[in-house]
Amino acid sequence: MMIVIPQVADAELLRSMNAALASAEWVDGNATSGHQSALAKKNRQLAEDSPEARKLGNIVLDALGRSPLFIAAALPLKIYPPLFNRYGVGETFGDHVDSAVRIRAGSDFRVRSDLSATLFLNDPAEYDGGELIAEGHAPVKLPAGDMILYPASTVHRVAAVTRGTRCASFFWIQSMVRDQSARDMLFDLDRSIQQLTSVAGAGAPALVRLTGVYHNLLRRWAEL
Ligand code: NI
Repeated sequence: MMIVIPQVADAELLRSMNAALASAEWVDGNATSGHQSALAKKNRQLAEDSPEARKLGNIVLDALGRSPLFIAAALPLKIYPPLFNRYGVGETFGDHVDSAVRIRAGSDFRVRSDLSATLFLNDPAEYDGGELIAEGHAPVKLPAGDMILYPASTVHRVAAVTRGTRCASFFWIQSMVRDQSARDMLFDLDRSIQQLTSVAGAGAPALVRLTGVYHNLLRRWAEL
C-alpha cells in the first residue's frame, strides 16, 4: 500500500528548510547507495553527517511526530535520520530496491527498512519530471510538504527531471509490525475506528470492543 501523508511540513517549515537547503553544500548522491543503486543513481545529496543534514533531519523527525496519520500508517519503531536530495535537469534514479538494513556511518544505529518515505519539499510547478514511480502504482508527484510512504521492498525509480529542480527528504522506517499485510490491516482498522468514532462517539460499546481488537492485534504482532 502506498500512503500519502498530507502536510507533514507546513508552509512556514518549508520556507525555513528550503532557505537552509539553498545555502547548503551538496555532494554526489552515491554517498549513501549500495552497489546496485549506485549504478542507477544520478543526483545530489546533503552529506549525511553535515550539521545542516542533522539539523534539518531533526526538524523532519519532529514534524513526523506531530502526524497521527504517519504514526498510524507506519507504526514506527525506529526512523533513519532523514536525508535530503536534489535532482536537477537530466538527473534521475533508475529502478532499484532500497537496502534492507541501513547502518548510520560511524555509529551502531541500524534500521531494518520496512518502509521508505519521500517528503516533497518544493512546489511541483517548479519542475517537470521527477515523479516517484513504484512498480504497479501510478507515478507520484506531491505538493510541497506532502509525503509518500511505501513498502521498502518495492522496485521504484525517480523519473528524470527535465526542467527545474526537485528537492526532497527521504528516509526509512523500521516498523513495530514487520509484516506489511498485518500493518495494512491495522491501518485499515484504525482508520475505520476513527471514522466510526466521529459518527457514533468514542464511548459506543461496539467501538470500545473494536478498539480492543486493534490493540490486541498490535500486542500480538508488535516487535519492540
Ligand atoms: Ni530508493
